[in-house]
Amino acid sequence: MCGIFGYCGRRVAQPILMEGIRRLEYRGYDSVGIATLSGGRVFVAKKKGKVSEIAHQFAPAALPGTLGIAHTRWSTHGIPSDRNAHPHLSCDGKIAVVHNGIIENFSGLRELLEEKGHRFSSDTDTEVIAHLIESFYQGNILDAVRKALKGVEGTYGIAVLHAHHEELIAARNGSPLVLGIGTEEFFVSSDASAVVEHTKKVVYLDDGELAQITPRSYHVFDLKKGVKEKEVSTLAWDVQEIEKKGYKHFMMKEIMEQPESLQNTLRGRLDKDVRLSLSGIPREFLARVQRIMITACGTSWHAGLVGKHIIEKYAGIVTEVDYASEFRYRDPLLTARDLVVVISQSGETADTLAAVKEAKRKGATVLGIVNVVGSSIARDVHGGIYIHAGPEIGVASTKAFTGQLAALFLLAFYLAQLRSKPVPRPGMRQLQNIPEVIRKMLADTAFISAIQKIAEKFHAYPNYYYLGRGVNFPVALEGALKLKEISYIHAEGYPAAEMKHGPIALIDENMPVIFIANRGGAYEKIISNIEEVRSRKGKVIAIATAGDKLMSQKADFVIHVPDVEYELTPLVNVIPLQLLAYYIADLRGCAIDQPRNLAKSVTVE
Ligand code: G6P
Repeated sequence: MCGIFGYCGRRVAQPILMEGIRRLEYRGYDSVGIATLSGGRVFVAKKKGKVSEIAHQFAPAALPGTLGIAHTRWSTHGIPSDRNAHPHLSCDGKIAVVHNGIIENFSGLRELLEEKGHRFSSDTDTEVIAHLIESFYQGNILDAVRKALKGVEGTYGIAVLHAHHEELIAARNGSPLVLGIGTEEFFVSSDASAVVEHTKKVVYLDDGELAQITPRSYHVFDLKKGVKEKEVSTLAWDVQEIEKKGYKHFMMKEIMEQPESLQNTLRGRLDKDVRLSLSGIPREFLARVQRIMITACGTSWHAGLVGKHIIEKYAGIVTEVDYASEFRYRDPLLTARDLVVVISQSGETADTLAAVKEAKRKGATVLGIVNVVGSSIARDVHGGIYIHAGPEIGVASTKAFTGQLAALFLLAFYLAQLRSKPVPRPGMRQLQNIPEVIRKMLADTAFISAIQKIAEKFHAYPNYYYLGRGVNFPVALEGALKLKEISYIHAEGYPAAEMKHGPIALIDENMPVIFIANRGGAYEKIISNIEEVRSRKGKVIAIATAGDKLMSQKADFVIHVPDVEYELTPLVNVIPLQLLAYYIADLRGCAIDQPRNLAKSVTVE
């Protein structure tokens, strides 16, 4: 949700800044802007549009200097337009600010500043920061930023420069910021993936911290107190991981990476026992946990719904699932014997982060299932499981979802083991083998072309149902979400049996219905649900177990998936649903990696 990038060093800043925001574009892509510093002057260029569309308008000659800040926007206050694009400037044009987050008291501040004579030139909340800093500036930019931020309520990750100072100031409260530490050059970024091509040494800023960066050094300060010693971490990611590697879209690359990413989630954690190292969470506590509350947003919430089934089944612990945005405000009943599990790909989702804080405030122990190492959620939980899926750039989550499912299986088996429950050996063996199973699926040209044919036939239909039961109901939700996100087709996921309580009214020959109908589970019941749709002329597309001949008679189209233990079927079922959404969106000419209105990482409420 908005990407910030800053550079301070000896190289020309403009190309580095352009590349930085290009890499951060998955966080927002409605407008772009850059400010650089040269010869005591601030140079600015900003435009509505995507980086690729407007890059040619950001001429290097018009943005000179070796220090600068850049921004890619996902609008909250003020429509996407040239004037609302960041950076925002002070009245004298000497201070430039880029911001990610929301300034909640911006209207009060704006009124106050206008009374003092400040003139505003945008509708954004961000612009007040530039003016506020200007109002405090008395020759020391660090001091002015610090004073200004004391009056600001809300969330921010900001980068600031001033015409008269060869330094860059960055500050964070609730919106992620990471410093990249190079040799005589430094970077500021919303996300480590944009600095990895320059350096693997990073410092994660925490809330309430600000950094002063010059071409020679950096210092981190507390907003209230003095200098802080910060740990320098080393990124494990490689620059190749953030390239498309010949794929048309990141989403397809990430779908195809799932055998490898799942292998990374499982590696070293599963042989005859399950091994998890949840450093801050004692085993004795886990052995006695009374209740588990899973909370997350979006795709991660869908993974949580699968988690409920498998934790209850294998570990016998009552498990509830809640949207983080609801959990944080509903005064959840929690005790010190409860375990709260938060799931987040980015580790930065504002609602999920707030849910962590709320759970901790209420005395619960919090376990995170997170992809991005060093992210805010990863650092805030008591212990956790990194899924090690590698950078996920496509806005529609794919490999993170399967990694989250694998991590939830590990957790369920681990808890069962700690509580002396019978751990299902065949299930564990099959989980170990899942990366290979998915590798074969993705290499099977008949499987891929079956999905492509369905996409060709149905890509113009305006509505879809996705139906599943039990552990596959969340997969139905996830399939529908993928389609909505990237193809803008209305799609709903439902528990198959609930169809009779309303949705069936919409079934006719124009409604494709995707059934998740593996053998096992409530197979016979699903067959009845398919009949109900067929008798109302709905078009049935079934995800079915390999070799299921009955399904070939019942459904109009069948996509066969490998025969695995029923509980593990979500891991194989979601693959064709990801691909179907992808091919449909591609046929409709949609911007698959940057769907309209969406951002990869939602760092505002
Ligand atoms: C956004 C993304 C989704 C993601 C959700 C939760 O809406 O577009 O793909 O599932 O946030 O994100 P998280 O990083 O917390 O898993």
